[in-house]
Amino acid sequence: MIVLGIESSCDETGLALFDSEKGMIGHIVNSQHDIHGKYGGVVPELASRDHVLKLVPLLDQLLSQKEIPLSDISLIAFTNGPGLLGPLLTGASFAKSLAWSLKIKSIEIDHLEAHIFSPMITEKELKLPFISLLVSGGHTILTLVKDNSTYKVLGKTLDDSAGEVFDKVARHLGLPYPGGPEISKASSKVNRSSYKFPRPMIKTSCYNFSFSGLKTHVTQLINKTQLNDSLISDIAYDFENAIIDVLITKTLRAAREHNIENIVIAGGVSANEKLRARCNTEKGEKKIFFPDMAYSTDNGAMIAYMGWLKLSKISISNSLEINPNPSSRFV
Ligand code: KG4
Ligand code: ZN
Repeated sequence: MIVLGIESSCDETGLALFDSEKGMIGHIVNSQHDIHGKYGGVVPELASRDHVLKLVPLLDQLLSQKEIPLSDISLIAFTNGPGLLGPLLTGASFAKSLAWSLKIKSIEIDHLEAHIFSPMITEKELKLPFISLLVSGGHTILTLVKDNSTYKVLGKTLDDSAGEVFDKVARHLGLPYPGGPEISKASSKVNRSSYKFPRPMIKTSCYNFSFSGLKTHVTQLINKTQLNDSLISDIAYDFENAIIDVLITKTLRAAREHNIENIVIAGGVSANEKLRARCNTEKGEKKIFFPDMAYSTDNGAMIAYMGWLKLSKISISNSLEINPNPSSRFV
């Protein structure tokens, strides 16, 4: 069976084809970073319009690259939330009408669940249960995942998400959007920093996070500083380390306290190379799994894969009704 995955919750239009026998056949992502870059963040209306323009050509391109006829698709999985309402509506309308025209069913996928299970696309050793740290632009959530429909949220951010703070601090440093990879690039130019920023809530016994105080601390410092390339790297280095210290400490503690061997770190911030490298050296007896780099930030592959995983668990429909849900059921 071939599942077409469609992701359009924010500023990436992603499509993918997952074959239940061969695995992921192919995926394609169009990022809108150039469109939103000049505004320093995503403009929802521009995002919706670009999804409308890109969905059909991207599907054509994917199918022709992989030499798969449209008629080989048996199921369409699409992101139903959380995300921006306009972008979700465009993806849902496209998915439902395509499914209707092909006389096949469609399945609504939760974007956060798809991130959480994304490492399984390539990591065959990853087994349930696991502790999941989801770190994206919109969310920072620590969860105990028992199976692909039973979750216990252990903690979450009380204010900004990790990705959001990367983006906001980058903006104050004069770096382009999205800020995570830019902070990383600046930080990798040095191997020490003269700063030691706060590590918020690192010692609290709960599993919640709070990053807005760190953001305010760093942005106030930036506002008082005459920036140059070397100071930007100096600040980026300890800022990145501060976030990584908190994320790793809390995640490893959750795994130890729940006696769980496997850990998943997924979502856009999981593309951070220092986070990956430090997990490798600090994991101790635990196993930490990341998505393939291509499936860390938003993509259609994780949606197609989740559609396949969910297929036997939930009822799927051929109704034309669309009901996108911008808010998260995890928080
Ligand atoms: O999962 P994602 O693509 O979209 C949401 O679901 O939100 O995550 C986007 C976030 C952005 O905040 C971006 O700055 C961050 O992921 N990000 C990174 C890196 N690559 C993307 N943060 C830190 N280091 C990176 N290399
Ligand atoms: Zn995402």
